[in-house]
Amino acid sequence: MHQQTIYILGIESSCDDTSAAVIKNDRILSNIVASQDIHKKYGGVVPELASRSHSANIIPVVDAALKEANITKNDLTAIAFTRGPGLLGSLLVGTSFAKGMSIGLKIPLLDVHHMKAHILAHFIDGSNIVNASTKPQFPFLCLTISGGHTQIVLVKNYDKMEVIGETIDDAAGEAFDKVAKLIGLPYPGGPEVDRLAQQGNPDAFSFPHPQVKNYDFSFSGLKTSVLYFLKKQLEKNSQFIEVNKNDLCASFQKTVVDILMQKMIKASMDYGIKHIALAGGVSANSSIRKAMLNEGEKYGWNVYIPKLEYCTDNAAMIAIAGYFNYLSGKTMPPSFGATARWEIGSND
Ligand code: KG4
Ligand code: ZN
Repeated sequence: MHQQTIYILGIESSCDDTSAAVIKNDRILSNIVASQDIHKKYGGVVPELASRSHSANIIPVVDAALKEANITKNDLTAIAFTRGPGLLGSLLVGTSFAKGMSIGLKIPLLDVHHMKAHILAHFIDGSNIVNASTKPQFPFLCLTISGGHTQIVLVKNYDKMEVIGETIDDAAGEAFDKVAKLIGLPYPGGPEVDRLAQQGNPDAFSFPHPQVKNYDFSFSGLKTSVLYFLKKQLEKNSQFIEVNKNDLCASFQKTVVDILMQKMIKASMDYGIKHIALAGGVSANSSIRKAMLNEGEKYGWNVYIPKLEYCTDNAAMIAIAGYFNYLSGKTMPPSFGATARWEIGSND
């Protein structure tokens, strides 16, 4: 690979985290994330408030990332940023900032696909929890689970990726957040469900598994069945949720993890691929991480699970994705702008 020292500033602003990171080749020097607490009050992300927070946060966050990396902006080789998919107003803040900075510094601009970046986080030096220096071997299958996406991706190389299955309705993270809301937990609900589930019985209640073709997923029926189950139980006992909170979280979480793992096992068998990775915000979930390790042992997989700081939205993954774009000479034409919708396999 390249011998030259490359410094890339990564910028992430696709949803409700403003993040900036600096990498030196594939090594992270800094990774600053400013989460936006303002959305908690509304129980979900309010797009307009997200854009405004990004505008307020982006300069201090980039400044902090450069300081922590102990470099100045003049040391940068290129700037990578999330061009999509995500909330358009939020993406525009990062895109405009990155464009301005690259023009000012006269350095290349690298546009990054947010979901591809979640996957490429595996190539950050030391990112793997099982064996820090191990990187996924191509081709591998990646279960990419976040607040907006649930996909099984066939990763052929750093750039060529094919979605072989995805959700036909809600994303896994969305299901966590919606069910958490039904139970009265604050936004984002995923980490809260995970925390309470650790004290609950995963077999206390059983929820139906959807019947969906091939490697696709569906989570909206599960959410509705939890809703009806709770309504029925609350008619009999108004304290039902309070008394059973931990068991409800554990049982719901087990159902989601089982659904995800069944499809992953099927995909691995059908494709004959045993290099299996996990990516996206929901991959921070302790139960899915455990299930990947257990199933991995059972089926002889090489399992790749990123450290927690590279699971939820962060700019380190944007910087590493930008690094591979840079190595292959894939810089962004000035005519390109932010794009809210951007399929993984589409022509860039
Ligand atoms: O990748 P991400 O940070 O943002 C998107 O690109 O969507 O994922 C955010 C999602 C949220 O739905 C959040 O509830 C979920 O990831 N999440 C979790 C956990 N940590 C974050 N879900 C379950 N268990 C967790 N520990
Ligand atoms: Zn994400």
